[in-house]
Amino acid sequence: MTVEPRPALADVTRGRLLYGGDYNPEQWPEHVWREDVELMREAGVNLVTVGVFSWARIEPRPGERDFGWLDRVLDLLDGSGIGVCLATPTASPPPWMGARHPETLPRDPAGATVWYGSRNHFCASSPVYREHALRITADLADRYGDHPALRLWHVNNEYGTFCWCDTTARHFRGWLHKRYGDLEALNEAWGTAFWSQRYGEWEEILPPRRTQYLTNPTQELDFRRFTSDALLECFTAERDVLVKRTPNVPVTTNFMPLFVGQDGWAWAEHEDVVSVDLYPDPADPFGPDGAALGALVQDLTRSQAGGPWLLMEQAAGAVNWRGVNHPRPQGLTRLWSLQAVARGADGICFFQWRQSRQGSEKFHSAMVPHAGRRSRTFRQVCELGADLGALAEATGTHVPARVAVLHDWDAWWAGLQQGRPSERLAYTEPLRAWHRALWERNLLCDLAHPEADLSDYALVAVPHLYLLTDTALDNLAAYVRGGGTLVCGFFTGVADADDRVREGGMDARLRELLGIDLVHEWWPMDEGDVQDLVLRTGDPGAPDDPDGACGPTAALWREDVETAGAETVAVYRGGELDGRPAITRHTAGAGTAWYLSTLPDPATLRALLGRAADEAGVRPTLAGLPSGVEAVRRGELLFLLNHRGEPVTVLLPAPATDLLTGRRYGRELPLDRHGAAVLREAPPAPGGG
Ligand code: GLA
Repeated sequence: MTVEPRPALADVTRGRLLYGGDYNPEQWPEHVWREDVELMREAGVNLVTVGVFSWARIEPRPGERDFGWLDRVLDLLDGSGIGVCLATPTASPPPWMGARHPETLPRDPAGATVWYGSRNHFCASSPVYREHALRITADLADRYGDHPALRLWHVNNEYGTFCWCDTTARHFRGWLHKRYGDLEALNEAWGTAFWSQRYGEWEEILPPRRTQYLTNPTQELDFRRFTSDALLECFTAERDVLVKRTPNVPVTTNFMPLFVGQDGWAWAEHEDVVSVDLYPDPADPFGPDGAALGALVQDLTRSQAGGPWLLMEQAAGAVNWRGVNHPRPQGLTRLWSLQAVARGADGICFFQWRQSRQGSEKFHSAMVPHAGRRSRTFRQVCELGADLGALAEATGTHVPARVAVLHDWDAWWAGLQQGRPSERLAYTEPLRAWHRALWERNLLCDLAHPEADLSDYALVAVPHLYLLTDTALDNLAAYVRGGGTLVCGFFTGVADADDRVREGGMDARLRELLGIDLVHEWWPMDEGDVQDLVLRTGDPGAPDDPDGACGPTAALWREDVETAGAETVAVYRGGELDGRPAITRHTAGAGTAWYLSTLPDPATLRALLGRAADEAGVRPTLAGLPSGVEAVRRGELLFLLNHRGEPVTVLLPAPATDLLTGRRYGRELPLDRHGAAVLREAPPAPGGG
């Protein structure tokens, strides 16, 4: 049997970047729709997501259908040449579902019902919920499968609901049965000899509900794996209904950014188009929650997609869910949108098109805010539409990276357990710090699963993977011995796939690779504690690092490691670990493996990763840039992005033309505060260098 190739993002973009947002016309009288479409055209919008929360409108009572309004919306959009990303409305079942079928509502760990009156109130294991969700999905596909406006299916919205009900318990047992085969294996994997937790019957097993004291950590880990899979079943069931009826229309679902609840690697394999929602904090434009978070999420999404991806949602101004919700300074939305395009996005969309006047999100910004078409926001929305229109040639092109940062949800989940050496160690802190260090050095990286083929990467960074499978460990060993450079962070390779601690405090294969004999103890640090480091060999301090001058320090975590062949690059100074190795480097086979047993300060981390990259032959996209200026090459284009709050001048490697303005530059390119340029470089002069 031949399998037809699935449609892809290229079938939606058709050679131009997508631009638009969530469109919720059911919140507005019809005369507003006409203005909507007029403004969409003015802004250059070419794709809107319709119907995400329209289940109660389409199916006001069980089994009834009201499609008339949606027919008119789709016809109107089509008449203006605006494509539709049509959503299945299954993220927010109508009140009648919860009222008639309370078993579709999720239960919390203490058994309390999570009621309707908000959204995402469904139990992924409920057959009743699934049946209704598939029915409305099928009806939507039957009705609109041939509609000329239809470009892309958007299934559900930001999957991530957990449930601990009895139906879930049965489903969980089935999942465990498949994973372990028999109870003996489950008892072994969960370590139920501890605290008399041994199970004698499958029926005794529960999701990790509220308990008296600490819950079994492997039960917790398996429940996270199960929940990700249960939600994925909901997604693939809807996807299959759509694919059967509309085989030529690609299917996506929008991920939350760096979201703990789903195994994003496993999910991405089931999508035709990978899309993500991204809401960096405008109060922190160049900080870890601003552009740095954006770069990380974008690199992750591109890596999940294996190519171009779609930014499904961002905010045009303030969100409404932070403690204090700041609007975006002039130019920031443009800058962050271009950052996404630089890092592989083929479309930039917002939540939402028109700002709601009622409901829980009426203070969340939109492309058309309460202030309307004369607003500063709408003007910037129109300008961004024009900018994206000028970048059609970026569509579908690739963003090649020579560095991989390893990331794995299993390791993240395993590290969430209670009763750990330090509650201050959050999985994402080292991940974000390391990625940020690479980003600030303009060393472009992909993210990769620890079992993925790493042979194309010159440098592999592992900020912190507490859990590593045997396959992953063999993969890392083969990578290094084959000539790769590995930089490995603390508290890595500690547990196996069942969350069983490896002997020696770290897996023996990894210790051998790193030239480490054993880990005596972990020495986590309190908030505000600073540990001095002394560098022994090499000079990881870069002369252009202003904060490198104070001498290297570290925070969060320390380890007392015994080396066996590794060279000591830095030692701890002061305290109990005075003089003990903090950072090591080891040659293994044809490659090199570094170990960072602590979290160095940002300048030191930048310098260390910079040195490792340099030794591995990886150069920054552009050298000598002022700090805060990001450079990314995508296809033939060079993106320069000024994240600083003041103007800068960048020295160009070659004369170039900015596609956004049509202006030509020789050697110097001025960039405004939050300014950006997308350059096509002039070909080298004949005979010249
Ligand atoms: C998410 C949701 C949207 C909206 C925005 C608000 O991304 O998908 O429906 O709630 O958050 O930021």
